[in-house]
Amino acid sequence: MPPTDPTRVIVFDTTLRDGEQSPGCSMNLQEKLEMAHQLKNLGVDVIEAGFPIASPGDFESVREIARQIHGPVIAGLARCNAADIDRAAEAVKPSPNPRIHVFLATSAIHREFKLKMGREEIIKRTVEGVKRARDHVADVEFSPEDASRTELDFLAEVVERAVEAGATTLNIPDTVGYAVPEHYAEIIRHLKKTVRGIDKCVLSVHCHNDLGLAVANSLAALKEGARQVECTINGIGERAGNTALEEVVMAMRTRNDHYGLTTGINTQLLCPTSRKLTALTGMQVQRNKAIVGRNAFAHEAGIHQDGMLKNANTYEIMRPDDVGIQKTELVLGKHSGRAALRDRVASMGYTLTDEQLNRVFDAFKKLADAKKEVFDADIETLIEGELHAAEGNRYVWTLAGFTSTAGTGSQTSAAVSLKHRDDPPGRVRRDAAPGNGPIDALFKAISRVTGVEAKVVDYRVRAVTQDIDALGEAHVEIEHGGRRTSGRATSLDVIEASALAYLEVINRVLQQRQRDRLKPTDHVPTNVVPVA
Ligand code: KIV
Ligand code: ZN
Repeated sequence: MPPTDPTRVIVFDTTLRDGEQSPGCSMNLQEKLEMAHQLKNLGVDVIEAGFPIASPGDFESVREIARQIHGPVIAGLARCNAADIDRAAEAVKPSPNPRIHVFLATSAIHREFKLKMGREEIIKRTVEGVKRARDHVADVEFSPEDASRTELDFLAEVVERAVEAGATTLNIPDTVGYAVPEHYAEIIRHLKKTVRGIDKCVLSVHCHNDLGLAVANSLAALKEGARQVECTINGIGERAGNTALEEVVMAMRTRNDHYGLTTGINTQLLCPTSRKLTALTGMQVQRNKAIVGRNAFAHEAGIHQDGMLKNANTYEIMRPDDVGIQKTELVLGKHSGRAALRDRVASMGYTLTDEQLNRVFDAFKKLADAKKEVFDADIETLIEGELHAAEGNRYVWTLAGFTSTAGTGSQTSAAVSLKHRDDPPGRVRRDAAPGNGPIDALFKAISRVTGVEAKVVDYRVRAVTQDIDALGEAHVEIEHGGRRTSGRATSLDVIEASALAYLEVINRVLQQRQRDRLKPTDHVPTNVVPVA
């Protein structure tokens, strides 16, 4: 049933599904769980946790999120076939509010070239799929994939049949980002006017950003009466991404005079959530990105600065603290105490145990000794490092030391000393390797000691803040045994951060190997299986 408050928009977050499946955004189970907790705190209504049939890892993370995250609806995606739907049902089952999201393409181009199905077949499968999902759960969403390029009369027919079959949410995806606002609004208007029973369902929008119009299209549809918006943090997603949650939410809030719509989002957690996703995936947002970019509230021009000093409303349509940006960036120095740090941690949206806070405090003191000024971003990095460390304690290999040499015209090489978890105290294992640059040499030396060869598919370093003595953050993604795994680490020395990030990846590969050995064979069909 649609929400009783007609102004309330349901925020459906698909960061962990549509977002996570795009290059550079992959997360492991622990990271997805961390993100899901953050999304719950942010106040999203629905978390699409993954596509359970896609891989055993996807299944596991949807099920774990369904187990641990109570409050929001937990959705699992399924194609319109029995195997997908049953697998999704099993994954979302532990949630008190489970949803199955079934999709099937409806546009002529998808029918002809991808599915090789006629219109009748599409309708038959839609009805069977929705009914099957309803046999598992009361909350079923149906998406006619590529809806915006589907003939309007056929789209209306499919949607009507999905409603009859028991769909409770009807999502209208602009799968390839082809729509423009007036066109997309017209689709929503037409469906609302012609589809029998549509008022019993929530009408939803799902836009991709290929033409940079995802947010504009979503808003146009919401204005026409759609009451669920599908979106991702930082707009991550397939190709050019999805509707950015922070943008669509702040547009509704800032222009409430125009839209008259509300959400349940705690907007002060928008920036912390954006930064958490960046920390987990290593995927940076552009500086001038709306709402969460570093420049989004920076005023450079003299005339603007003068206006801002006289009245912030002259050049600011939102207050930075409304989206969780602290006005004063420079926060603490080496004389700051534990209480000041505790306050800052809380205002950044984190909850730490006393022990975690003590460890962050120790790390902060060390950093403050080594670095002139400690910024919010530094503190956030220390907190993320602490939250991350729990997993690190279970790792097989730790870095005891390294050296690397580089210089114009000279041969580059690196030597590492690693400690194995099962070794007696004091024992380290060493090896060295030449390479194309110090990082390549370092990675090779680590691979030699650990015996794990991995193909690096992505490697990025960035300075956490803009000062010369900034903390460096390294992010490494590798491919090993057909799987992608990523790791990240920070240090005042970017070469050390790189070594630590690579070592984390190696440790994760070893953990995965162990899980694979322990797991019973898990056969996952990948072909499209007709609904029985
Ligand atoms: O873009 C799309 O069509 C999708 C569907 C699965 C909803 O992501
Ligand atoms: Zn999509």
